[in-house]
Amino acid sequence: MTHRIPAVRILATGGTIAGAAPSPSDTSGYRAGALPVAALLAALPPQDDVRLDARQLASLDSKDALPEFWQMLARELAQAQADPDVDGVVLTHGTDTLEETAWFLHLTLALAKPLVLTGAMRPATAASADGPMNLLQAVQVAACPQAARHGVLAVLNGQIHHARHLRKAHTHRVDAFDSGEAGPAGFIQDGYVGWFWPPRPCAPRFAPDTPLAPVDILFDYPGISVSMVDAVLRGGTRGLVWAGYGNGSISGRIEPLLREAGRQSLAIVRATRGGAGRVGLPGTCGFIQAAGLDPYKARIALMLALGAGTPPGALQTLFDTLSYE
Ligand code: SIN
Repeated sequence: MTHRIPAVRILATGGTIAGAAPSPSDTSGYRAGALPVAALLAALPPQDDVRLDARQLASLDSKDALPEFWQMLARELAQAQADPDVDGVVLTHGTDTLEETAWFLHLTLALAKPLVLTGAMRPATAASADGPMNLLQAVQVAACPQAARHGVLAVLNGQIHHARHLRKAHTHRVDAFDSGEAGPAGFIQDGYVGWFWPPRPCAPRFAPDTPLAPVDILFDYPGISVSMVDAVLRGGTRGLVWAGYGNGSISGRIEPLLREAGRQSLAIVRATRGGAGRVGLPGTCGFIQAAGLDPYKARIALMLALGAGTPPGALQTLFDTLSYE
């Protein structure tokens, strides 16, 4: 039997991992997405155990990623999944919205092969840039067939995170990402991949070309402007994620507006601005509970669900299922 060296495709989209600054001491005054994928590959040590091919899909600062960008990625990634010459895929991405892209892809892609997102907190030109090690470790995880059974993953700073739990939790440190209370999926060290979680079901909930309905997020705060909330509700959105206090509670001056919007067929999802924990207030008729999803993940789930024509009565079950799958 001949041993086939795994083939990993790197799809590059920009971000700080491809960022360039005027000086090696500069870790914030840089342009994201300035360098081509060939420059990222050139920073890797020679690879004997894996065959790499690379494509440039975009050169974005991920703050400018739009829902159409997620859909373009889903199409490219579905092709890579179907390509018999590809055993795993790495997507390089800016860290600012990496968690949104990873979650969208998790909800829409059928994975037969590993898909690993990575990025960097320091530009490629920085002394002690974190990008080359993150990319190397992402390639190593993508070359590991078991990784496909964990859904969409992110590899950053030696940790492996599930798209379901991943979040950017720091503005500048290289350990900027975590998985909240759930903890990371695993780790990678010197090519050894270790798992803290067993494999998990990862069937896609939506087709990659599902239209994305407009959905906004609003955060509650003392003294919130009623007219601002009213303007958002009347601004053409089909749904609203309300990042409320604690267990999703809503300022008393605002709650009647949201109830009325719900009666007028807007989908109102109650989430928390608290950063962790399940939202599930008893007696919350008229509102959908985000359950364990943070506001950003709840928004993407709602955009897809409304775009797919999910009946209103099925939305709560969807959120409950997504939270704990
Ligand atoms: C970006 O998200 O594209 C810029 C910031 C980063 O990658 O860290």
